[in-house]
Amino acid sequence: MKRTHHCSELRPAHAGQVVTLEGWVHSRRDLGGVIFIDVRDREGRTQTVFDPSDLPRDLFERAAGLRSECVVRVTGKVRVRPAGTTNPKIETGEIEVLATHLEVLNFADVLPFPVDDPDAASKVNEELRLKYRYLDLRRPEMIRNLRLRSKIAAATRNYMDEQGFLEVETPILFKSTPEGAREFLVPNRRDPGTFYALPQSPQQFKQILMVGGVERYYQLARCFRDEDQRADRQLEFTQIDIEMSFVEREDIYALIEGLLQRIWKVALDIDIPTPFRRMPYREAIDRYGIDKPDTRFGMELADFTEEFRHSTFKVFSGAVANGGVVKALNAKGMAGATQGQMDAMTEIAKSFGAKGLAYIKVEGGEWKSPIVKFFGETEKSALASKLGMEEGDLILFAADQWLNACEILGKIRLYCAELLRAQGRLQVPADRFDFLWVVDFPLLSFDKEQNRWYSSHHPFTAPVAEDIGFLKSDPKKVRGQHYDIVVNGVELGGGSIRIHQPDVQKTVFEEVLQIPPEETRLRFGYMLEAFRFGAPPHGGIALGFDRLNAILCGTPSIRDVIAFPKTAKGVCLMTDSPAPVSPRQLRELHIQIKSGKTQSGETNTPLP
Ligand code: AMO
Ligand code: AMP
Repeated sequence: MKRTHHCSELRPAHAGQVVTLEGWVHSRRDLGGVIFIDVRDREGRTQTVFDPSDLPRDLFERAAGLRSECVVRVTGKVRVRPAGTTNPKIETGEIEVLATHLEVLNFADVLPFPVDDPDAASKVNEELRLKYRYLDLRRPEMIRNLRLRSKIAAATRNYMDEQGFLEVETPILFKSTPEGAREFLVPNRRDPGTFYALPQSPQQFKQILMVGGVERYYQLARCFRDEDQRADRQLEFTQIDIEMSFVEREDIYALIEGLLQRIWKVALDIDIPTPFRRMPYREAIDRYGIDKPDTRFGMELADFTEEFRHSTFKVFSGAVANGGVVKALNAKGMAGATQGQMDAMTEIAKSFGAKGLAYIKVEGGEWKSPIVKFFGETEKSALASKLGMEEGDLILFAADQWLNACEILGKIRLYCAELLRAQGRLQVPADRFDFLWVVDFPLLSFDKEQNRWYSSHHPFTAPVAEDIGFLKSDPKKVRGQHYDIVVNGVELGGGSIRIHQPDVQKTVFEEVLQIPPEETRLRFGYMLEAFRFGAPPHGGIALGFDRLNAILCGTPSIRDVIAFPKTAKGVCLMTDSPAPVSPRQLRELHIQIKSGKTQSGETNTPLP
C-alpha cells in the first residue's frame, strides 16, 4: 500500500476512508493500553491510534516498541475524534486514523536532541544542531524555511523570465583577481604552481556576457569569499545576480522594485509600495551614521559643529578646529542606562579611536554630566531644542572627523535601539519593511596606510558622468553610479552602472588605482580587450539571496535559511570539513605541507 495522503491533509470530511500515511514517529503516548502515535511528514502531523482490542497481538506489540523518529507506514480508517479530544494546534486535530496495518520501514537510534520540541532552536546548542543537521532539518521551522527559500527562488526565476532575462551559469573555477575579499584557491594539477580561484561573484563574467550580446542575464549564483563569518555572512553564499545592457540606474531600480514586490507578495502576501525612497550616501551617514540605515525608528544624529566651534569645552572646539564635527544623539528615555551599558557605549567610541564618550543624562529636572559646566547658555538651548531633550533622556556626543563621528553614533544608535527593543520600549511591527536605495556613493576611498585610492565597491563602477573630469585631479569628489538596496538596516544588495569605455577603464586601473600596466594586463587584460570590440553600455546588481531569505523567514541568522551552513570558524560540523588529504593527493598537486595538519599513512585512497 502506497501513501494516499500527506500528514497535513485529513479532515472530518474524510471520515470512513481507508488511508495510508508514511513518515516518522513524532511522538508516542500510551493511554490506558491504547497507543497514540503522531506520524509526521514534511507537510504536517496526524494522530494514529493502535487499539489492542481491534488488532492482532504482534501488530500491537510492534507499535508499542516504536521509538521517536522510526520510519513507518500506517494504514487505517479515518474517524472524527471524540468530543473533548480534538487538538486545535495541528491542522488535522479533528480526526485520527484507527490503524489496521503497520510497517516499520526503518528504526531510529535514540536522538542526540529531540526534534519534536518547538523551542529546540533556543534550547539545543547550535553546534549539536549543525553536526546532526539532518535531524535539525526535520523540525517544522527548518522545513518551513527551506520551503520558503524554494518558493522565493521560483518566484525570482518566473519574474526574471517574464522580464526577458536569460539564466546563464558562469564558471566556479575562475582566476584570482585580488581586489575585494580574500579568495579560495584551487591548485592546478596539470600545471604546477598555477591556481584557479573560486569566484567572489560572477562580476566579470556577467559583464563579458553583455559584450557577448546576451543583453539581460541573471543567475542564482554561488559566491565564495574567505572573510570573517558573522550572522549575515558565510564563506559560500548565493546571490541573485543580474546584468542588463542599454540601461541607466532608473531601469535597474524599477526592475528590482518589481522583483521585490513579487517576492514579498508570494512569500508573505504583503504588497510593498514602490518606488522606494532614495537617500544619498552623505545623508545616510549624516543622519544615521551608517550607509545601511534602519529607518524604522528615529533617534537621528544632530549636528552641533557650528554651536561648538568657539566653545570653551576644548574637546569639542578642538575637534572642529581640526576640521572635524560635533554630532549628538538623543537616546530617548535611556538616562537610566546602567554603568555596564555606558561602558559598552564608550567602548564603541574607543574602538573608533575616540578618547571617550561625552554624555548628558536628564534626570530629576537636571542635566547630569561631567561636561555641562563648560557649556554656555546658547549652547545649552541649542542642544535642548534641536535634540528635543526631555526628562529621562540620554544625550551622547562624538567630536571627531565627520565619518568617524557619525559612525560612532551610528553604532551607538543601533545598540540603544536593541536595548530599548529588548525592554519593550521600542516597538517595531514584524511586518514593517523600510526599503531604501542608498545612492551617490564616493567612487573611491583613500587608504592611508598604502597611500593610495581604492574602489569603494569594485573597479568596474562607472563614475557619475559630470564627475569624470575629477578622476585624476580630485578623486574624492567623484561619485560612483553605485546603488545599494537596504531594508530595515540590512544591506540586501548592491550594484552599479559599469564603465564600458576601454579608455576610461584603463585610466581607472592604471592612473587612479595605480595598478601597474603589466599587472592590469595580466589580471584584467581580457576585459579591456573585450571592451574594444563593441561593449554596450551596461549595469547590474546582486542581491544577497540568503539575507533576503533570512528577512522573509524572520530570522536573524542566514544559517537558518541555508541547508548546510558552516560555523563561524568556517567548519562543516556534519562532514568535518575542511580536512587533511592523503600524501598521494598532495604529491599529484605538487604541494608540500610545511606546517599544519597532514593525514598520516598512504592508505587513504582519494574518493573518485
Ligand atoms: P557585493 O559584494 O555588494 O556586490 O555583494 C552583493 C550582496 O551579496 C550579499 N553578500 C553576502 N551574503 C552572505 N555572505 C557573504 N559573505 C556575503 N557577501 C555579500 C550581500 C551583498 O549586498 N558583483 C557585485 C554586485 C554588482 O556590482 O552587480 C557584488 O558582488 O547581500
Ligand atoms: P577629557 O577632557 O579628555 O577628560 O574629556 C571630557 C569628556 O569628553 C569625557 O567624558 C570624555 O569621555 C569625552 N570625550 C573625549 N573625547 C571625546 C570625543 N572625541 N567625542 C566625544 N566625547 C569625548
